[in-house]
Amino acid sequence: MWVRPALAFRGSPQLPGDKSISHRYALLAALCPEETCISNYSLSHDCQHTLQCLQSVGVDVRRGGEDTCIRGRPLGELERSDATLDCGNSGTTMRLLSGILATQKHRYILNGDDSLRSRPMGRILIPLRKMGAAIRASDGERAPLEIEGRRLHGVQYILPVASAQVKSCVLLAGLHARGRTEVIEPIPSRSHTERALPLFGVDVEIQGECISISGGQQPRSPGPIRVPADPSAAAFFCVAACLIPGAAVTLKNINFNPARIELFRLLKQAGADIRIDREEEKFGEPVTNLTVRHSASLLEGFPERIDGKAIPPLIDEIPILSILGCRLPRGLEIRDASELRHKETDRIHAVAEGLNALGARVDEFEDGMKIYACPSFRGGRIASHGDHRIAMAFSIAALMAESDVEIQESECVSVSYPDFYSNLEKLAGVARPA
Ligand code: S3P
Repeated sequence: MWVRPALAFRGSPQLPGDKSISHRYALLAALCPEETCISNYSLSHDCQHTLQCLQSVGVDVRRGGEDTCIRGRPLGELERSDATLDCGNSGTTMRLLSGILATQKHRYILNGDDSLRSRPMGRILIPLRKMGAAIRASDGERAPLEIEGRRLHGVQYILPVASAQVKSCVLLAGLHARGRTEVIEPIPSRSHTERALPLFGVDVEIQGECISISGGQQPRSPGPIRVPADPSAAAFFCVAACLIPGAAVTLKNINFNPARIELFRLLKQAGADIRIDREEEKFGEPVTNLTVRHSASLLEGFPERIDGKAIPPLIDEIPILSILGCRLPRGLEIRDASELRHKETDRIHAVAEGLNALGARVDEFEDGMKIYACPSFRGGRIASHGDHRIAMAFSIAALMAESDVEIQESECVSVSYPDFYSNLEKLAGVARPA
């Protein structure tokens, strides 16, 4: 895809349903014998992979208009599947589904694309094996995973990395394990699983850093539910609107989970022109609208370094934050972010390589990077490495470049946001196929 410099940036994009919440609603609905209809379920390839895997283990999924309706099976009654369960590019599908399948009565094989097969699975295998699970992985604890389902027992597990996927995997395994499962998370990660479980009638106790669940609770359908818009998709347009002169966008019904909104908070604190409407609680999640206008003033007030506890709540936003970093007068240093090396691609390397291609200077470190101020980007070619967030972040950079930028393998945006380019075209009139 070629992206041209923007002439304008105005409007209200159609944002996808939140990817993290969609996965969780589908997985919990799959454990309810009654039907659950979910509106605004994410059309992303990742979330479609979750539905396909669930269908393979006997869950009924039907699309009715705007709704995705799921009729699941009682707790512990998922069916066997002789076919390999294909998780595609989706780490959330593989890690959360493993927690559920490890407690069933059958044997399953989970696999994914090249990117997913290169990502670390030891982080879920360690706690699941502590719970008694029988799982085999390939060399280096990578997918494919072979799970021999069995009854597990509750454990206490202290998360060694801030990861909502690991936390959720253990809690979902704990839902059908004997006794009580406690997950202690020293640094908070997105809390969607803890919020979704009570929606499905499951008691979860949260005390400080400890989240606990008693095994054997049968989830119940909450009736019709709705997925809010994805703040990580909104983040791309928010940064574009802050940086492009004359821009104004409205981002509606965005999930405002406290562990997802660090980028918006930092921008606002730095003086960006962002109006945040009053938050409303919908299905246990905070939701709001944002109106973002171009704001030259934010460039002065933005921190020069971001690290430590600020990283997990903006982990998925670091590619677009890096684009913003080039526009800050003193640049931006990002540290304590080595988790980025384990995402859909090595995002530290991919960002540094892409920014270099646009004429910016970046020092790469094992746990982050120092991005130097770069008043203008030149045109060029960007390797997305098939990573949706790299493709979208550099498409936003391209709006501010001196000439056209080619984003390679740009179709990967469908992993989270299939309509990204049609929305970009409407807002800025700038995307066209290569
Ligand atoms: C996700 C958790 C995060 C995030 C990913 C989605 C989730 O991953 O990067 O895009 O839905 O739980 P980690 O748990 O590996 O931090």
